[in-house]
Amino acid sequence: MQALNTTSLQLKENRLWILDQQALPQEKRWLPCDSVDELVEHIRSLRVRGAPLIGLSASLLLALLAERGLSPSELEQALQTLRASRPTAVNLMNNLDRMKQALAQPDWATAMAAEALRLVEEDRALCDRIADHGAERVQPGSRLLTHCNTGGLATAGIGTAIGVLLRAHQQGKIAQVWVDETRPLLQGGRLTAWELGELGIPYQLICDSMAASLMAAGQVDAVWVGADRIAANGDVANKIGTYSLAVLAHFHRIPFYVAAPHTTHDPHCPNGAAIPIEQRAAAEVTGVAGSFGACQWAPADAAVYNPAFDVTPAALISGWVLDCGVITPQQVAAGVFQQALR
Ligand code: MRU
Repeated sequence: MQALNTTSLQLKENRLWILDQQALPQEKRWLPCDSVDELVEHIRSLRVRGAPLIGLSASLLLALLAERGLSPSELEQALQTLRASRPTAVNLMNNLDRMKQALAQPDWATAMAAEALRLVEEDRALCDRIADHGAERVQPGSRLLTHCNTGGLATAGIGTAIGVLLRAHQQGKIAQVWVDETRPLLQGGRLTAWELGELGIPYQLICDSMAASLMAAGQVDAVWVGADRIAANGDVANKIGTYSLAVLAHFHRIPFYVAAPHTTHDPHCPNGAAIPIEQRAAAEVTGVAGSFGACQWAPADAAVYNPAFDVTPAALISGWVLDCGVITPQQVAAGVFQQALR
């Protein structure tokens, strides 16, 4: 396959390389990934993470395995295993559906390589269009709050919510970004802080619990987040903590925007209650671990509740900023979400 270079994925000499997002920002460590088991482990441990990137990494690996001569039944098995690696982000399922169609072609190896590279190029273009639409909604001098990581690390392009922040910054509209640290896995504190620094966007890092008092003090003009799945009624699953931000924004009358590619929409999922929410290991909450070291503070046998995502009801969202345009609450209330996606 032809060489490929994104912020966090590379194809070099017919090998997939992933940027280890658990090692950032302390270390920029590229890991080779040659098998389905390896990639599943990278995805489960969030070395590869972010809704679009999970789907792209799975598609690229499948294409490489097809080129290496795996049979159609082995590839079908690989596809099923990858599909089950993380349940909430629907981009993985959507990308794998397209790879399955390529697998059904007579010349499946060529078709899968072309499809995987097309998915990467499409994702880059989707990010650019989201950024264009989103930046129009950003007022000059804005102080924007974001949660989790939605940038070039999580996509093949400039990102979704962070793509909007970047475009608005290029237009001179950003006074500063408030970055939620995003417990338990610190995607904000480790990854978004790093990315915004690299992009030259002024930011301040906060603990998740500080958003309320900042809003009360009039220090937040809008909230921008990404999405892992958008249900047919407009409910949005995103990183745990997103829902509480939406409630806070609603109380303080602050716009709350969701930025995502249309591939994050799941028309088969009627509402947020039907979105599968991944439950994760207790150790993520009883302490913290990473390339900076490990520390456990809770009792070893502490009972833990650790959902990786929550659902924000459509009623709390000011706009769904997609590649095809901004969908308004009025459109969603009128049930035109699906038509508006076309
Ligand atoms: O568990 P993660 O780090 O994969 O969760 C990521 C998020 O929730 C992002 O906000 C979402 O995937 C959008 S990324 C463009």
